[in-house]
Amino acid sequence: MLDTGWFCFVEMVQIVSRSNTLVILFVSFVICALLYLINKAFWSLQNYNNYDYVMQRAPSLKKDLEDAEARVAHLEQKVTVLESQIPKKYPDVKFLNYKRKKKILVTGGAGFVGSHLVDKLMLNGHEVVVADNFFTGRKQNVEHWIGHQNFELLHHDIVNPLYIEVDQIYHLASPASPPHYMENPVKTLKTNTIGTINMLGLAKRVNATILIASTSEVYGDPEVHPQSEMYWGHVNPIGPRACYDEGKRVAETLTYSYVKMEHVQVRVARIFNTYGPRMHMNDGRVVSNFILQALQGIDLTIYGSGGQTRSFQYVSDLVDGLAALMESNYTLPVNLGNPTEHTIEEFATIIKQLVGGNSKIMHVAAVEDDPQKRKPDITRAKQYLNWEPKVNLTKGLKKTVEYFKQELKLFKSDTNKVDVEL
Ligand SMILES: NC(=O)c1ccc[n+]([C@@H]2O[C@H](COP(=O)([O-])OP(=O)(O)OC[C@H]3O[C@@H](n4cnc5c(N)ncnc54)[C@H](O)[C@@H]3O)[C@@H](O)[C@H]2O)c1
Ligand SMILES: *[C@@H]1O[C@H](CO)[C@@H](O)[C@H](O)[C@H]1NC(C)=O
Ligand SMILES: *[C@@H]1O[C@H](CO)[C@@H](O)[C@H](O)[C@H]1NC(C)=O
Ligand SMILES: *[C@@H]1O[C@H](CO)[C@@H](O)[C@H](O)[C@H]1NC(C)=O
Repeated sequence: MLDTGWFCFVEMVQIVSRSNTLVILFVSFVICALLYLINKAFWSLQNYNNYDYVMQRAPSLKKDLEDAEARVAHLEQKVTVLESQIPKKYPDVKFLNYKRKKKILVTGGAGFVGSHLVDKLMLNGHEVVVADNFFTGRKQNVEHWIGHQNFELLHHDIVNPLYIEVDQIYHLASPASPPHYMENPVKTLKTNTIGTINMLGLAKRVNATILIASTSEVYGDPEVHPQSEMYWGHVNPIGPRACYDEGKRVAETLTYSYVKMEHVQVRVARIFNTYGPRMHMNDGRVVSNFILQALQGIDLTIYGSGGQTRSFQYVSDLVDGLAALMESNYTLPVNLGNPTEHTIEEFATIIKQLVGGNSKIMHVAAVEDDPQKRKPDITRAKQYLNWEPKVNLTKGLKKTVEYFKQELKLFKSDTNKVDVEL
């Protein structure tokens, strides 16, 4: 019975083996069928009361069983081979000849901003190396490139030196949101000082152009409004944000010291608040807080009066600005941000409208050193990079809400806990 069935299966195997998916389905079916038969054979052996008959049949049954097992093993092997042959589908990348194709290092490339930058550089046909220690980044953000011939992912902490050959370096590695950079202030400082020295040293050795991701936090709690690159800032050197603010200020100082002493080609981007898909759910900043609260139907919490303003840029605008800055010949700091200002109160209202539900808006006490106003003056970026943000708040927030919905689903599927900690 097994044998006739077997010939039939062999025929079918030949027919369906032209499609990998079908083969896998079919082989799974065969394995199930064989296991069922084996099980049945055992069952009838156990229940057969004619002992002699069983003793007489036993050797042949045993042989059938062994044959079947061998066939299952063979088919399993075949499935493994076929699975490994299914080619991974990558997004289409532009073809660049060797003269135009650059080798580009992105530190922090597995993070929120870094991974979007990697997407842009890859799609434009460049060779991209990501160095990340996965402190706040994740492989998932770049997994669609893993295995691509133009892509390489290094598990590397930039506090240690890195020796590779590259044409450009986008230096983004650093925790970026208060809960992350406050978790280990000394490590935050090391990443922004020693890590930046390592990257500037690499740029010097291989004559690469290096772009430093600085921040609007170098302006601290600003006394001028909006902030132009000429403003020197108002930072508390021993406040809770100092490890980040001062770390980035030293990173800028180091950058221009390398220009003076080593003639390194540098670009400095002072990045203002950025939002979009792949941002951290628990980054503690206002957009993610409000979206998560609204999606979970809990009240939206405003720290302080709600009259303090924020300007948020969508991540694709920032990535365009970073690339434009790198390709420009402008070496002084450039603000990259969206100057359209909204009060925190307005953000809460817009997000509440977008998500729906019946969350209310609630006010709690202000936090220490929370900047009261933040708005970029982007005259420089407009003039030297011909850059300005394009994505409006409604459009950007819609995409971000969509992303958070998916993340929240995943989060809930993995835990019994209902609320994401804010
Ligand atoms: N997102 C914003 O609103 C914003 C605003 C201003 C400045 N920035 C700057 O932009 C850059 C990227 O920010 P983001 O929002 O994508 O943050 P992120 O936390 O998502 O990304 C930072 C990445 O750096 C990696 N990293 C941290 N320390 C490292 C180390 N020692 N060695 C190697 N990798 C390390 C993290 O694992 C992560 O992948 C940061 O330098 C940040 O300071 C961001
Ligand atoms: C370094 O690179 C720049 C271009 O970025 C080039 O003009 C210069 O000649 C290079 N220097 C050396 C020593 O190769
Ligand atoms: C920088 O580039 C601009 C055009 O993008 C050009 O007009 C200008 O002359 C360049 N400046 C230098 C110093 O090369
Ligand atoms: C934002 O842009 C979309 C189209 O991209 C447009 O439909 C919408 O009206 C804009 N919203 C605002 C507030 O400008």
